[in-house]
Amino acid sequence: MSDSLAKQISRLPIDEQEAWLDGLDNELRLELARNPWWFIGRPEQLLPPGEWRIWLVMAGRGFGKSRSGAENLVQLMMDNPTAPDGAPTEWAVFADTFSDCRTICVEGPSGILRVLRGRGMKEGFHFTYNRSLWQIILNTGQILHMRGADNPDVGRGLNLSGLWADEIAKWKYSMRTWSEGVYPTLRIGDSPRAIVTTTPKPGHELLKTWIKRDNGSVVVTTGSIDDNRDNLSRAQLDEMHDLYDGTRIGRQELLGEFLEDVAGALWRWENINIKDFGERKRVVVAVDPAVTNTADSDETGIIVAGKDRDNLLYVLADLSCRDSVHGWAMRVNEAFERFHADAVIYEDNQGGDAIAEVLKSVNPYLPMRPVRAKISKHLRAEPIAALYEQGKVFHTEHFEKLENQMLSWEADDPKSPDRLDAMVHALTSLANVGTASRFLSELADICPSCNQPNTKGVEMCSSCHKPMGV
Ligand SMILES: Nc1ncnc2c1ncn2[C@@H]1O[C@H](COP(=O)(O)OP(=O)(O)OP(=O)(O)O)[C@@H](O)[C@H]1O
Ligand SMILES: [Mg+2]
Repeated sequence: MSDSLAKQISRLPIDEQEAWLDGLDNELRLELARNPWWFIGRPEQLLPPGEWRIWLVMAGRGFGKSRSGAENLVQLMMDNPTAPDGAPTEWAVFADTFSDCRTICVEGPSGILRVLRGRGMKEGFHFTYNRSLWQIILNTGQILHMRGADNPDVGRGLNLSGLWADEIAKWKYSMRTWSEGVYPTLRIGDSPRAIVTTTPKPGHELLKTWIKRDNGSVVVTTGSIDDNRDNLSRAQLDEMHDLYDGTRIGRQELLGEFLEDVAGALWRWENINIKDFGERKRVVVAVDPAVTNTADSDETGIIVAGKDRDNLLYVLADLSCRDSVHGWAMRVNEAFERFHADAVIYEDNQGGDAIAEVLKSVNPYLPMRPVRAKISKHLRAEPIAALYEQGKVFHTEHFEKLENQMLSWEADDPKSPDRLDAMVHALTSLANVGTASRFLSELADICPSCNQPNTKGVEMCSSCHKPMGV
């Protein structure tokens, strides 16, 4: 970690600080009053020297990645007002979704609007924010486009002199979206440039390609959450360390380390794909409660999952929490109602009766389905991992904590991954992956409400008398 110029100056004796200030001309002194980026940005957050095309800032959470992206993109815009043909230059910000682009990259505390205002620029005078075209137009005529990088067509029609891509490791189809949709838009001027800011993901192909490239076209900056400790809440920083220190995920999320895929892990990043929920066939909420209820006890895994009419499976929500028994039971019930779920799934091994009692105390009418885990966690998880690999399971958005457990859990890991357990229960119940149920489902239709077999094609379940098509 290195210090910003502001911090270095603040460490000098007062007479040396005064001498430094006296050496500045009036214009610079006035600029200092606004805390310009060259003064408060740490050296690793400032544009690196050289003829690079891509600057990859791959660092831990809270490092100041987004602030760097916003500050440096605006700096590039200011330095390059016109294209070689004399037209005002165009720029763009890409994030994993349009909503993140707007709320984080443009309107957020580390976003473009804050940077423009910090430079003394006023909306309506120095720039306009056109919320119907999603553009920021400077009074020089330069345009900054806003895009959600959720498909490879995202850059169509753009002719850019530079761009900022935030959290690229979270993009839906990052390799294709980048190489077909985003990078080709960088085509105006002598050296159009991309600033890419992200926390890494294990084995991420695009990041791997950039890290390996050694021809000077890519500059990689790495760093940890602690590098930005001056600007983060102490409590938040301590909590992150408590949660993640000494873990693989901590190396990634806090230190920004690029981890290779775990040899023994069942899931790979490339198999976790994002897709909207199709036409609903069935939805369940699965809960894997913490055994104890203390400050550092395990989390209670609560996962909502669904199956569509094409029998594709989806993780719809991760509502896992550290909460009291009553607290997690309330959450399960809320999830059940919010998603109009068909059943609540829980493990019946140890304390199964107690779980059922707790859930009943919150809602006596919850349809509950205990699952009895006769085989090891690893064996239970394997068929679900296989379904991911076959492209039959999707997430409706990235559920970071769940996905981190999926990517780092090894069978001999002593710490039980609660979110993952709940996810496996939910998807197992939807997929009917057991051999017996697979065999049975070929002979009979399984009732979605009570799971009892019925003659193929009947409309009402002969056991619980509910419609079979739910
Ligand atoms: N050099 C700096 N000087 C002052 N404040 C800074 C500096 N760098 C970052 N910050 C502030 O620190 C906070 C976290 O920064 P930022 O949002 O850019 O982090 P991030 O790495 O993008 O985090 P996340 O991983 O959550 O996306 C923000 O309030 C930002 O404005
Ligand atoms: Mg950020």
